Amino acid sequence: KKATLHVNKHFQIGEVDNRIYGSFIEHLGRAVYEGIYQPDSPFADEQGMRKDVLDLVEQLNVPVVRYPGGNFVSGYRWEDSVGPKEERPSTIDLAWRVIESNQFGFNEFMDWTKKAKTECMMAVNLGTRGIEAAKNILEYSNIKGGSYYSDLRRKHGWEEPHNVKLWCLGNEMDGPWQEGHKTAYEYGRLASEAGRAMKMLDPTIETVACGSSSLTMPTFGTWEDTALMECYDQVDYLSLHQYYGNRENNSADFLANTVAMDQFIKQVISICDAVKAKKRGKKDIHLSFDEWNVWYHSNEQDQKIEPWSQHPHQLEDVYNFEDALLVAGMMITLLRHANRVKIACLAQLVNVIAPIMTSDTGAWKQTIYYPFELISNLGRGTVLNTEIQVPFYESKHGDTPFLDSVAIMNEEYETLTIFAVNKDLKPSEEMELSADLRQFENYIVDKHVVLVHDDLKAVNTEENPNNVTPHANGNATLENGHLQAMLPAQSFHVITLK
Ligand code: AHR
Repeated sequence: KKATLHVNKHFQIGEVDNRIYGSFIEHLGRAVYEGIYQPDSPFADEQGMRKDVLDLVEQLNVPVVRYPGGNFVSGYRWEDSVGPKEERPSTIDLAWRVIESNQFGFNEFMDWTKKAKTECMMAVNLGTRGIEAAKNILEYSNIKGGSYYSDLRRKHGWEEPHNVKLWCLGNEMDGPWQEGHKTAYEYGRLASEAGRAMKMLDPTIETVACGSSSLTMPTFGTWEDTALMECYDQVDYLSLHQYYGNRENNSADFLANTVAMDQFIKQVISICDAVKAKKRGKKDIHLSFDEWNVWYHSNEQDQKIEPWSQHPHQLEDVYNFEDALLVAGMMITLLRHANRVKIACLAQLVNVIAPIMTSDTGAWKQTIYYPFELISNLGRGTVLNTEIQVPFYESKHGDTPFLDSVAIMNEEYETLTIFAVNKDLKPSEEMELSADLRQFENYIVDKHVVLVHDDLKAVNTEENPNNVTPHANGNATLENGHLQAMLPAQSFHVITLK
């Protein structure tokens, strides 16, 4: 098969907002306890934060981490998570049917974000709580001092405000599984009033309203429209969440999910723009794809968890090679909408549907770690409008191109980086990729990194952590401005020119 990329440095989609490489830590399973925080671990620093995990997080170059949920936030009492640890109550978490010890809370997370060289994207509880609690945690977090909650923070040992800039107004409030689930109108009203009060208190913050929990929600579309009609003036972003699985073991269909994701993004953009028009609005509502990943491997196992334990092994998907290919494709899809998708969070970061896993004896990288690391580090700059000429295959999502690809130009470093996923699964078929890059005069191929494996189901484990790893052994060439590369079946590529 042949694939031709058409790019022109003057035809640009937009600048990448680096927050598109965000992630997510929820009080769920072993994400916090035994993930980022484990005081009795040999890897812990003086605050109990795992240094091995911090190292791996840093390599991912994650600019923002959403916290503390997720479903967890809809029952969250932030006050229980601050102050002297011995006085913090153990509480019931209805979302995940566990007990939360509150030994790691808001202030500890803020300290962790500094160590991880990232920023917090904080969610407020609009499930069981409302405007008052949202306003109070913002006061505790962002006001310097002189008021009850800001002074309480200082009394707790954090003299300086945390200055959290990005706030999610609840989580998945369209979902009947959510504590305090609401109709779109009820949610829109509450988000509007909570957002208004929060922005009165700190006008420098940005807010994210809940969109649909997935494209398949029966309320998708009307939810976005109704909720946004209520809260348009008070919000800056609308969220999208989507997880995919390969339950039918049909890998061609599974990899075709990028088509569905692309549709989802386009449809949400249309609704945001329709609301803007109806409101005679001046601002665009941007998109925050603040939960995305593969999630299905652990579903069956999780049914067996006894309720009311503490940080059990929960949502511990072991990712395989085809998951890594889809993750790469999903990131390419996000980048192709860089003009509207400004924030995205890989859900999640450690132990829970995560690129990083830990045990008492170490931490290792799952297969999905690699596409995230490569794209996050190299996919910064200006996204070019990348037209792809390639054959299609028929999947459950209709016509599906055999190649997902995008090109990013970085003027500061004078690089052009192409990300590409060859979704053709026929082992004997190589794809011949070409592009006319004569505009990028004097550039050479700096590297061509390939993630490929014969076995779509290959995994990385603690015992065998390097089974699926990328190699800089691609064969891309650039001669007289013409790029050429042979892409083996089922493979992910990063081609950097400079
Ligand atoms: O990330 C796991 C869960 O998925 C989150 O808690 C929830 O928001 C979503 O349904």
